[in-house]
Amino acid sequence: MTTSIPLQSLSENTLFREGDVFVLFGELFGRGYATGLLDQAKAAGMSVIGITVGRREDDGSLRALTTEEHAAAEENLGGKIINVPLMAGFDMDAPEGTATPTDLVNEMTIDGWQEHKLDWDHLAKCREAGTERFKTALAEIMAQLDGMIPAGKNVFFAHTMAGGIPRAKVFMAIANRIYKGRGKRHMPSQALLDSDLGKLILQNFDDVTANSFGHLLDASAAIRNRIEAEGGEVRYTAYGYHGTRVLIGGEYQWQTYTSYTQGYAKMRLEDHAKAAWDKGIKATVFNCPEIRTNSSDVFAGIELSLLPLLTAFKTEGGGAWADALWQRCQDLLKDGVQLEDVLTKVSDYQKSELMQGFYNFPAWPMQNSADQVEATVGTSQEIVEMHENRKELISDELSQHVLSATGELIFTETSAPSGPVLWLDHDMVAQVLLRANG
Ligand SMILES: NC(=O)c1ccc[n+]([C@@H]2O[C@H](COP(=O)([O-])OP(=O)(O)OC[C@H]3O[C@@H](n4cnc5c(N)ncnc54)[C@H](O)[C@@H]3O)[C@@H](O)[C@H]2O)c1
Repeated sequence: MTTSIPLQSLSENTLFREGDVFVLFGELFGRGYATGLLDQAKAAGMSVIGITVGRREDDGSLRALTTEEHAAAEENLGGKIINVPLMAGFDMDAPEGTATPTDLVNEMTIDGWQEHKLDWDHLAKCREAGTERFKTALAEIMAQLDGMIPAGKNVFFAHTMAGGIPRAKVFMAIANRIYKGRGKRHMPSQALLDSDLGKLILQNFDDVTANSFGHLLDASAAIRNRIEAEGGEVRYTAYGYHGTRVLIGGEYQWQTYTSYTQGYAKMRLEDHAKAAWDKGIKATVFNCPEIRTNSSDVFAGIELSLLPLLTAFKTEGGGAWADALWQRCQDLLKDGVQLEDVLTKVSDYQKSELMQGFYNFPAWPMQNSADQVEATVGTSQEIVEMHENRKELISDELSQHVLSATGELIFTETSAPSGPVLWLDHDMVAQVLLRANG
């Protein structure tokens, strides 16, 4: 792929109706992307079934939810949850009595991790154990799910899993330096990729973010065949990230957050959708815009990609709703600071020669550089300073709208999806919100 493939037009839901089944493949926590899609499924009258990643005991073992946790999770989801723990990745898996990858990472030190070598034969066994555990749990979930979907219904599988950062203190310290470290604290993201630690993490990202989708496609084959034989239809979606077209200097231009280490796994996720599509399965990865969620907060400055959405509302037609949103955002700023000042600061950053060098689609995901982190994190911090309260940010307000917009874009496109990989850019996000609030 040499360019992104943007979604070009708004659709309508022509497939899903009352009593059809929406399966959320990933646990719902708080303010994430899945909430927008779930709202659409509920509004269409679909019944909702979810899964859980399970919970870890103090000794690291994985268990199902307790009765209370199960009830609370179902309440939060607004649907049934199949209580079989489905944690992806192998960071906590190992053959009985041997060290897990997380144990091994915990042996590393902040001074020695770059030279620290890992036992790849052992890690291959851990990965095998993790995959086996995941596939066994998934088979049980599919058996239960089969009995929960009546004949003649359509089914929407929504994959939301992403992650795979091992729970090791040393990695948290490294991540802080890579994604936030300025000046002397800067750590090149290439250093992580060159290390054994980085190679291990990339494998785990692949398993959590990408291969979990491949397993879902495989493990649901029997359900898919039954539903289709009974006259229903099955769709799969997943959330990708591969940069976004946003307004820069009056034109929609592809840009990206840098450095996005998960990018390799996200491209593998796209490959799973393409392979399924080639076999006639309607599976689509929707590459979504940068927003602030529990998962993306580690990426300092990610919200700089989001702020030009305000200008897109005007470019796409504006109106009373957009004016009110502008005013709400203006009200979050300190006295004397204009919203236009914020947008000019973002635009100067995005138009700079330095950042333009990173907006290189075929080279994605590029590694960071000291001057780029300085610009990204520095601009982000300056914009936070322009707010009245650093806990009430314009980017939080906009994130809410983007997750509701993508929910509608994904849900409506999925009736008759146009391809296995589509980008939801700021033009379509603005258009769907203006349509919904017009
Ligand atoms: N936030 C962004 O800027 C952004 C941009 C584009 C795409 N996305 C994607 O949207 C999706 C939802 O992310 P979000 O940002 O809304 O955050 P989130 O924290 O709400 O969602 C992360 C999901 O991953 C699941 N998960 C995490 N670790 C897991 C593991 N080991 N095994 C199984 N499941 C695991 C969680 O249960 C949760 O459902 C992800 O695929 C993410 O990559 C996010």
